[in-house]
Amino acid sequence: MSNTNRLRIAIQKGGRLSKDCQDLLKQLGVKLNLREQRLIAHSTNMPIDVLRVRDDDIPGLVMDGVCDLGIVGENVLVEVQAERERQGVPSEVSKLAKLDFGYCRLALAWPQELGPRDKSWFEGKRIATTYPEILTQWLKREGINASTVMLTGSVEVAPRAGLSDAICDLVSTGATLEANGLIQGDTILESNACLIQNKDLQDEDKLALINKLMPRLRGVKQAKE
Ligand code: PRP
Ligand code: ZN
Ligand code: MG
Repeated sequence: MSNTNRLRIAIQKGGRLSKDCQDLLKQLGVKLNLREQRLIAHSTNMPIDVLRVRDDDIPGLVMDGVCDLGIVGENVLVEVQAERERQGVPSEVSKLAKLDFGYCRLALAWPQELGPRDKSWFEGKRIATTYPEILTQWLKREGINASTVMLTGSVEVAPRAGLSDAICDLVSTGATLEANGLIQGDTILESNACLIQNKDLQDEDKLALINKLMPRLRGVKQAKE
C-alpha cells in the first residue's frame, strides 16, 4: 500500500469514464504515470495517488474512507447508496461537483419484435439489470409488479438468451440497444459523472489540496462552456 498521507482518488479502470477522468486529472495539473498498468498510480508533482478500480467499487471505497475522493457516475452512486442504506452500512458522501461528462440514462428496453409497449406491459415480467435497487424503487413507485434479474454485465443479451423479458440498462449513444435489437422505453434515471468525497475527511493537508484543486475544476468546466 502507498502512503496514506497522500490524497487518494478512485477512478474507473476501464470503461466509459476512464478517458475523461484521466483528461480531467491532467487538466487539473495532476501529473501521473498511467502507462504502468497498475492499480495505483502515484502523481509525480502532487501528493496524490490515483486508484484505478471497477466503477461499481468506487462509491464504497469513498464511503468507507479507503479513498478520499472518487469520480463515478451518479447511476452507480445512487445504486450503491440504496443498497447500503438497506443494509444499514454508511452510505453518505459529500458531492463536490457534477462533472460535464459521462452523461447517460438508465432506461427500460425490450425486444424490437414486440413493438411499442407501455409501462403496464411490465406487469409480471422479468427485467435484467445491473441496477436492481434503482429499478425496484421505480417499479414500486409506478405500482408495477415485476421481478429483477441481477447481471453485472452483458445485460443487453439477456432477453435473447432467455434470461429475461426486458432489460433496464444504461444508454449513452443507443448503439448497444440497436445492435441487440432492443427498443428503448422509459428513462428511470439520468446520470452524469460526479466528484465525491468521503464525508468524514478531516486531514488538513488533504483538505487544503482539495481546496486548491476545486477552483481549477471550476475553471476547466467554464473553459468548456
Ligand atoms: C453501458 C451499458 C452498455 C453501454 C451503452 O456500459 O451497459 O453496455 O454502456 O452505451 P451505448 O448506448 O453508447 O451503446 P458501461 O460502459 O457504462 O459500464 P459497465 O462496463 O459497467 O457496464
Ligand atoms: Zn460497471
Ligand atoms: Mg456495459
